[in-house]
Amino acid sequence: MHAPDNASSSAGQTLGRTDSRPALRFLTCGSVDDGKSTLIGRLLYEQNLILDDDFASLKSESRKFGAVGSDIDFALLLDGLEAEREQGITIDVAYCYFATPTRAFVVADTPGHEQYTRNMATGASNCELAVLLVDARKGLRTQTRRHAIIASLLGIRHIVLAVNKIDLVDYSQVVFEAITAEFAGFASELGFKEFIAIPISARYGDNVSSVSGNTSWYNGPHLLRYLETVEVENDSRQYPFRLAVQWVNRPDLDFRGYAGTVCSGRVRVGDELVVLPAGHVSQVKSIISSAGAVAEAEAGDAITIVLEDEIDIARGDMLVAPRDLPPVADQLSAHVVWMSPMPLLPGHSYLMKINKKTLLATVTEVKHRIDLDGAGEVNANILELNEIGACDFSIARPVPFDAYVDNPSTGAFILIDHTTNETVAAGMVDLALGRTTNIHRRPITISKVERSRLMNHKAAVMWFTGLSGAGKSTIANLVEADLHARGIHTIMLDGDHVRYGLNKDLSFTPADRVENMRRVGEVAKLMTEAGLVVLCAFISPFRAERQMVRELIAEGEFIEIFVDTPIEVCAARDPKGLYRRAYPGEIKDFTGVDQRYEAPERPELHLLAAQDNARTLADRVVEQLVRRNIF
Ligand code: ADX
Repeated sequence: MHAPDNASSSAGQTLGRTDSRPALRFLTCGSVDDGKSTLIGRLLYEQNLILDDDFASLKSESRKFGAVGSDIDFALLLDGLEAEREQGITIDVAYCYFATPTRAFVVADTPGHEQYTRNMATGASNCELAVLLVDARKGLRTQTRRHAIIASLLGIRHIVLAVNKIDLVDYSQVVFEAITAEFAGFASELGFKEFIAIPISARYGDNVSSVSGNTSWYNGPHLLRYLETVEVENDSRQYPFRLAVQWVNRPDLDFRGYAGTVCSGRVRVGDELVVLPAGHVSQVKSIISSAGAVAEAEAGDAITIVLEDEIDIARGDMLVAPRDLPPVADQLSAHVVWMSPMPLLPGHSYLMKINKKTLLATVTEVKHRIDLDGAGEVNANILELNEIGACDFSIARPVPFDAYVDNPSTGAFILIDHTTNETVAAGMVDLALGRTTNIHRRPITISKVERSRLMNHKAAVMWFTGLSGAGKSTIANLVEADLHARGIHTIMLDGDHVRYGLNKDLSFTPADRVENMRRVGEVAKLMTEAGLVVLCAFISPFRAERQMVRELIAEGEFIEIFVDTPIEVCAARDPKGLYRRAYPGEIKDFTGVDQRYEAPERPELHLLAAQDNARTLADRVVEQLVRRNIF
């Protein structure tokens, strides 16, 4: 989730105000056509904040395109911004800045169409207050509820329900109160701290920045007054110190600095810091900002920290205050807003971008979905486009993070589909799960290198992937015999064998295949630590899981071998008679028949296995090992 960094300070500065309060960051949201853009346009217009040029063109545009007769269509003001963003250069949320004599504002305008839930979440992630618009004629809609829930999940604690188009219901108090009561009932569970409803007409300006005579029954403040006076707690300086290292600055051997933006809290020279996930402790020797060496820094500052001790720190490691350590875990429970047309499936893996680290994460369980029409948490196995739900994740390696409620700056993540590279979800961590938090790694006396030395060759994992009947095991067996003859210590892990023992509890559903890979990956890793050359022959149909194993194994030791045999050839061979039963549906979840196989994109070795005989192919595998200096 990206939003302009330092948004608050730049608004304050460019507008030259004297007020020391940071700008109030709010977003407008609600269903499409409920009047968001018109409202912001009206606010800017009444504050004389529209530049003259813009105003002249607005008048002529309104005459040409506006949907409001001879009145000015304020929505066009922001649609101009929208056109800019349609060119796809910056971000998909339009921000605008304005100030009154008492306060500066940053407004995030987010499109209301369903497919733009993504933008709503992006905009909300940086805001303290949401102005949720409702069309008085239509009342609360699914999208209104969805936006209220997303706002709540993202930690927004202040909501203004702007009951718009009140002119179109004859300024009816009854209509206003019915909508307000319905929203109050729905929102009572969402944990908002303050909620106010205001009857407005964005088009005519009722209760926007002056009190309207048309709603004499309404005694509250107009919208702008409320925005000017509301007190929000927006200070990420109040949270414990966190800095996720963006890059390690090492210009020469004498200098090693860790650069990043302070996510939360403050840090001073001399402070003790803990480096996570490793847990090393050191003191801050110096802090360097763009202005040179400084004595302290706080949330939002981009700095480089130099520590007293030489410690191995990598991108994505986190420097934290010792008194408030965040959990370090490889499992977490989170709420996610799902933004892809392809549903979120348990057992599937996505790239999780969390605190500057990108790691493979598998959905271990979908716990529930939030029903937007009022039924609360309902059972769900998957999440579809625009749905919000709670899931558990298992991450490739332990990472430090906070629960979103404890610290929003280190408790949010996004999920990326690694095949399309698209952001498919925004997530908010609820809590760390599991076992790793209290596991301490003790150093082991004999290292892997020493074990390898005794073996007289290096360790490696040869991962054969391909359809059932492709020839994986046949080739792997020939390779192993060859290696054995050369005095190389090997072990063979084969799908059919492992599924008799270690994995006999697993079926062939996508989720179980993922677990099959995870266990085999861990076993293969242990065996490389013993110094062995491990031959793995598994269909392993999903790219994400093969990637997961690759990341588990040390750099350069994972050799992916794609045994590429067309399915017609495999089915014709049918050594186990499985295709014969799978095609008529007697065997379910059969790879290549009713379940997909994702071919490797860049395997270390691609064997066109229908063209050559197994012996020739095995020789090519052995050559590959020689080329990689394994022995
Ligand atoms: S994997 O997909 O999880 O990697 P694995 O390689 O362990 O599969 O097991 C595949 C072997 O199980 C196949 O060679 C085949 O003999 C057998 N098998 C039984 N049912 C199926 C099925 N539905 N899909 C694929 N293989 C199956």
